[in-house]
Amino acid sequence: MHLAVLVFASAATMATYALDNGLMRTPPMGWLAWERYRCDIDCKYDPKNCISENLFIDMADRLFEDGWKELGYVYVNIDDCWSSMERDKDGRLQPDPNRFPGGIPRLARYLHDRGLKLGIYGDMGTHTCGGYPGTTLDKIEIDAQTFADWEVDMFKFDGCYSNALEQELSSNVKGFERNGPPHWLLMQLVNYTKLGQICNLWRNYGDIQDSWSSVLSIADWFFENQDVLAPAAGPGRWNDPDMLVIGDFGLSLEQSRSQMALWAIMAAPLFMSNDLRTISGEARSILQNKMIISINQDPLGIQGRRILKEKSGIEVFWRPLSDNASALVFFSRRTDMPYRYKTSLTKLNYTTGSYKVTDVYTGQTDVLKDSTDFVVSVNPTGVVMWYVSAPGKLRYHPILWLDALPSVGGNPFQ
Ligand SMILES: *[C@@H]1O[C@H](CO)[C@@H](O)[C@H](O)[C@H]1NC(C)=O
Ligand SMILES: *[C@@H]1O[C@H](CO)[C@@H](O)[C@H](O)[C@H]1NC(C)=O
Ligand SMILES: *[C@@H]1O[C@H](CO)[C@@H](O)[C@H](O)[C@H]1NC(C)=O
Repeated sequence: MHLAVLVFASAATMATYALDNGLMRTPPMGWLAWERYRCDIDCKYDPKNCISENLFIDMADRLFEDGWKELGYVYVNIDDCWSSMERDKDGRLQPDPNRFPGGIPRLARYLHDRGLKLGIYGDMGTHTCGGYPGTTLDKIEIDAQTFADWEVDMFKFDGCYSNALEQELSSNVKGFERNGPPHWLLMQLVNYTKLGQICNLWRNYGDIQDSWSSVLSIADWFFENQDVLAPAAGPGRWNDPDMLVIGDFGLSLEQSRSQMALWAIMAAPLFMSNDLRTISGEARSILQNKMIISINQDPLGIQGRRILKEKSGIEVFWRPLSDNASALVFFSRRTDMPYRYKTSLTKLNYTTGSYKVTDVYTGQTDVLKDSTDFVVSVNPTGVVMWYVSAPGKLRYHPILWLDALPSVGGNPFQ
């Protein structure tokens, strides 16, 4: 079980601390190997999918060439099983020589040349979850220096084979404070105030799997604990409900739309773990939906909440956005047929006025007076998601500013 607290710092700003390190002012976006590729190291028989530099180069090419980067998906993150079983003669971690013959610095350069960023993985215990060398307290300094030398942009720090005391101590990450690249910790330390002071990003619930029941259980946990979790989030410090599995095998189209919508409401990091070489058009259009990305990346960085749980199985989620706009998600737990849910903006606590609402998946717009009843038809395990303009602001359309984003450079949202 990976339980992670993800601490980030940047090689350029290593001396400062996460919360005000100027990083991750909006949730980070990119691609992460773990859910889809796990610890597949069989490059002989599964060369296209094994954990090797080729996999990361392939994904970098797709991010760069297929329109992902411009939308903010800039991180390419290595997870477990990248390293050699042995440290080198100087005690430094080294990648598996057969699977990463070019070494990590060359991979980092390949990404940086394309405006992308590289993430890497370690573990504060004796071993990583996959049994590779760990970064115990006595190794933090040298590993931080190694990752910094390699120009790694993000470090995910897992908690397998460590005890609570080691986690507590490692969370101080002195070595990283002085030397390290961005870091991302995975562990069970749950003082969110403290987490927000030492990391940009943390994960403290089980690994996501490629199934609807997994996505739903994670969403349920996060919204059941929203009173604790939501206040902990904000620019530079994010709760991480784990990767997007959209484009894999386990989710239907409706469920894929639901994961994207709920992750946007949660101000979650958007790390896809899928095969960008073969992804379907449907999955791509969900993951590349500009209006949902703009909601996820809203600069206020307020994590949204579940505001209603109806007996009918409909749940309503709300996230305040900048410019007095907001996002609403109507989600159905039902398994029978599309449900016609009737409500009004007044019932959802919107104050007096007229609002322009845009369905983020269909693009349809409507103008609603606060007290006017409306009906949304929500498919089983699916969502209807709206961008709601500020009262009276009936012309503003968030897609406009997204289209105006530069098409080169780093994450345009940061
Ligand atoms: C949580 O961490 C903060 C900051 O380090 C500290 O002030 C506070 O006392 C901690 N809370 C608990 C319950 O330990
Ligand atoms: C948001 O609404 C408040 C209260 O109605 C108003 O004072 C403020 O000017 C509005 N801000 C923007 C950016 O429209
Ligand atoms: C509306 O606001 C009231 C008062 O703050 C609160 O009790 C209620 O839960 C809110 N309802 C929704 C749907 O947000």
